[in-house]
Amino acid sequence: MEQWDKNGQLKHLLTVDGFTQSSLNALLTQVDRFIDEQHRLRHTEDLKDKTVVNVFFEASTRTRTTFEIAAKRLSADVISVNVATAATAKGESLRDTILNLQAMQADLFVCRHSDSGAAHFIAKQVKPGVAVINAGDGCHAHPTQALLDLYTIKRLKKTFENLTVTIIGDILHSRVARSEIAALKIMGVKQIRIVAPKTLLPPMIEGNGVHCYTKIEEGIQDADVIIMLRLQKERMEEGLLPSLREYHRSYGLTAARVALAKKDVIVMHPGPMDRGVEIDSVVADGPHSVILQQVHFGIAVRMAVMAELIARNRS
Ligand code: NCD
Repeated sequence: MEQWDKNGQLKHLLTVDGFTQSSLNALLTQVDRFIDEQHRLRHTEDLKDKTVVNVFFEASTRTRTTFEIAAKRLSADVISVNVATAATAKGESLRDTILNLQAMQADLFVCRHSDSGAAHFIAKQVKPGVAVINAGDGCHAHPTQALLDLYTIKRLKKTFENLTVTIIGDILHSRVARSEIAALKIMGVKQIRIVAPKTLLPPMIEGNGVHCYTKIEEGIQDADVIIMLRLQKERMEEGLLPSLREYHRSYGLTAARVALAKKDVIVMHPGPMDRGVEIDSVVADGPHSVILQQVHFGIAVRMAVMAELIARNRS
């Protein structure tokens, strides 16, 4: 696969598929170089004289901003292309846009696109030594979100093996769920549970350590980690859900439902949250929520990924 070179070194980060437990662990260990015990982010020169270009063809607040902050903390020059005014809106092909940005000496592209496979396509267009990070492609993958969630779990729970992790929401349309499930499997999590209405469960997901539930109470029982997902309405066909109120009644994370999990359960969410739909405010802002810590750790994780790719592509 094109994200590794022939020596097995990471050239791009497009998906978590193909990582081993030891290669993921190595990456997670690297993150500690960029954030200290007190959660303070460091400033380094890993990307000095390098140019990072954020190319986001889909809406984003957290992901784009945290990549930008991460690149700045690594001393890179960073620009974010404003897609509303990008030449693709005038009809330029994605390939031409990327090749033009490459001609401006981009060393690393961070890309988000509504088409599954867009990041792989971009990785095929760039010249050797230029790295591509997939910041979300359609329903397919969002590897840095999975990595930052792994890092958050590792930091707060210290282990993966003994955990029950429950992912709740729109699994069918979620690139976060896809990357997350793959990453949790690689890390050897004891039990991965998926909770969703039947219409939002991808086919053939059950098995291989993954257990599916349509009743939220059963899926939450004794969980160590709960990961909530937004309904991806922009990717959803009509008729998959009766109504948002009905969805909240059956699948919304309320304080009473959190109480069914372990006492020290952590509640995660990649954002953006739809308060009152998949999660109640008392939970989102409550004592179990680590949602803002995820955002903070995400900067360090993205620093580690960019530093790793640039170091590999330098040598
Ligand atoms: C997610 C995404 O864009 O895939 N958000 C994120 O990156 N923080 C999830 C979502 O949009 O619901």
